[in-house]
Amino acid sequence: MNNKMQIAIDGPAGAGKSTVAKLVAEKLSFLYIDTGAMYRALTYAALQRKVNLQDGNLLKELLDTIVIRLAHTQNGFQVFLNDEDVTEQIRSADVTSNVSLVSSHEPVRLEMVERQRQLAENGRTVLDGRDIGTYVLPDAEVKIFLTASVDERAKRRHEELLAKGIASDFDQLKKDIAHRDQLDSTRAFAPLKKASDAVEIDSTTLSIQDVVLAIIDIVKERAR
Ligand code: DC
Repeated sequence: MNNKMQIAIDGPAGAGKSTVAKLVAEKLSFLYIDTGAMYRALTYAALQRKVNLQDGNLLKELLDTIVIRLAHTQNGFQVFLNDEDVTEQIRSADVTSNVSLVSSHEPVRLEMVERQRQLAENGRTVLDGRDIGTYVLPDAEVKIFLTASVDERAKRRHEELLAKGIASDFDQLKKDIAHRDQLDSTRAFAPLKKASDAVEIDSTTLSIQDVVLAIIDIVKERAR
């Protein structure tokens, strides 16, 4: 396989991108980069510091002062904001409901994209997000657009929350997911969109393992 290879996995919220991307990276010994976690870390920092989330310039100023580190440790994949471990905090309902707004601002995205390109520059990487194949890495060797029905995505999230002992309202989840899809795919700058050369995989009726194997097949095919 080539020394440098980029795998871009995009798609709407809850389609299983991060689970699948992590497994693909593990199986192929690639570096996994969760770009959503970067937007979430900024959102968390902004909420903590009570920065106006409507103001893209203020958010960019904040971003310039913080270090977001994606670390692969013995405890799995962890996210650090400066030296604080925010792995759990960035998945809170408060961060989730505000991250689409924070990530819609062009100055924020330009800086994040810069950081993501640097992370992906060397070696073999798997990035998951919304605009990896269309904007961040338009030349990625493999592009996947992973989808699933809103119902299925809400069901998966619902079960995940219940398994963690967290109360969950299925209908509300469905509304929240549809709303986030709408915001992410209609924003002016680099919206969520399938790249013309991406392979679309609808995971509604597929297991995680099926999706991982399908992607690895595509990677092997491209590496020939
Ligand atoms: O994948 P996720 O749910 O952790 O992403 C959180 C939000 O970040 C998502 O609603 C949209 C935004 N995002 C983005 O705009 N571009 C990316 N490359 C990744 C995430």
